Amino acid sequence: MKSIVILISGRGSNMEAIVQAAIPGVRIAAVVSNRPDAAGLAFAAGHGIACAVVDHKAYADRAAFDAALAETIDGHRPDLVVLAGFMRVLTDDFVRHYAGRLINIHPSLLPAFPGLHTHRRALETGVRVHGATVHFVTPTLDCGPIVVQAAVPVLAGDDEATLAARVLAQEHRIYPQAVRWFAEDRLRLGDDGRVRVRDERQAGAAWTVPALEW
Ligand code: GRF
Repeated sequence: MKSIVILISGRGSNMEAIVQAAIPGVRIAAVVSNRPDAAGLAFAAGHGIACAVVDHKAYADRAAFDAALAETIDGHRPDLVVLAGFMRVLTDDFVRHYAGRLINIHPSLLPAFPGLHTHRRALETGVRVHGATVHFVTPTLDCGPIVVQAAVPVLAGDDEATLAARVLAQEHRIYPQAVRWFAEDRLRLGDDGRVRVRDERQAGAAWTVPALEW
């Protein structure tokens, strides 16, 4: 059984998708928010999941907040920490502490559009393809080895809301899938910085870089 802690800041729909996927071998030990008013907390509590708030406003600086956050997380002894719409920049020390067991979902096809307002920037840039990325977290924001990506078309007439909704539907598919791979011990971060997944359909259990999802 793998224990995971999910960090949220708001709506928590990715957290909800992971909870609802009911992944065999995964126990959601806690949902932690940096905002007391995060809507996702009610969903988690309603599903009997332990909830905690570590309010960043109560700490003098990023280092103090991250230390308190890590203490709360580590109290649950997670195998994996899942950032699901967690809107805080994390210190290098925090990221290093969870090296290889901290994943994030970002609403773009990284390395395109790191940071905020990805859908708006995709529309402004005029890209025809957009999407979402699950990646291991490294000290550089929205960087780190890619676990899985899903692409969606950008359609004529799209606005930020329609594009965001199309991407979000893919997020809800690929994030539980990435957690499932982790739970099944099928994820490996190679020395070359590439993430490979053990493909059980192939004889000899080949390790392959997951193909783009559509
Ligand atoms: C998602 O688009 C996620 O990729 C991004 O923030 C959004 C959070 O949505 N990091 P939710 O809180 O999971 O509904």
